[in-house]
Amino acid sequence: MTRRSAADPARRPLPLSRRRALVARHTRLQPLRDVPTVRLHLADELDPVWRATAEALGAAEVPIPFWAFAWAGGIAIARYLGEHPEEVADSSVLDLATGSGLCAIAALRAGAASAIGADVDPLAEAAVGLNARANGVRIGFVGRDLLDEEPPAADVILAGDTAYEGPFAERVFPWLVQAAAHGARVLVGDPGRRYLPASNLTELASYEIHTTTQLEDRVIVTARVFTLRAPTSAGRPGGPPGLRP
Ligand SMILES: C[S@@+](CC[C@H](N)C(=O)[O-])C[C@H]1O[C@@H](n2cnc3c(N)ncnc32)[C@H](O)[C@@H]1O
Repeated sequence: MTRRSAADPARRPLPLSRRRALVARHTRLQPLRDVPTVRLHLADELDPVWRATAEALGAAEVPIPFWAFAWAGGIAIARYLGEHPEEVADSSVLDLATGSGLCAIAALRAGAASAIGADVDPLAEAAVGLNARANGVRIGFVGRDLLDEEPPAADVILAGDTAYEGPFAERVFPWLVQAAAHGARVLVGDPGRRYLPASNLTELASYEIHTTTQLEDRVIVTARVFTLRAPTSAGRPGGPPGLRP
């Protein structure tokens, strides 16, 4: 789903104000069908927003505008947190691969003390800002690739729909295991993607999620929420570093 790296130097950097304008122009603020208390700036169709993004960035090929959609794995986490607010109450939360910011918003709505969204797509920063405002919450944003670093200190790490691509999944899941070994509670939301690892996951919930044929081949998919355990050998001495947005 990624045609070219989000860090492609051939792309024009766009100021945040222009990225926000692009997100606002090509999306519609709407409640999520499965989590109606959350409203997001979402696109109805993929191609127009994808084309507009490529034009604005001055590149022939750009990654799919993930931030313009709520992905089934993230929706499952959002539903789960609505039903289990104790998972994040008074906690610091990192929403890895945040996209629209959905999981961070759901965590704050459920009573998290703070939430940071991390995503390497610069458009995600704009989407997270607009969506945070629409839901009356504050979300920090980290745009650098946290997978190149030690997992930061966070009570809870959320990973919604991160097993869709082999190279990304091969980086994400060992990193999440490391975070769990540091003591983080790690929640993974996944609709049966090909690269979800078979080990270290314990299922917590399963939902029938409404999605769109713009993204999937069906309009309802089964998405599960798992907690990811660290094998006892995955720990290391010392605590995790702090997270600086
Ligand atoms: C399928 S979307 C999921 C978005 C959101 N979690 C949800 O469920 O709606 C995957 C996201 O991973 C992001 N991503 C890809 N590589 C990443 C990396 N190294 N670090 C952080 N995010 C990354 C993409 O930009 C995209 O926003």
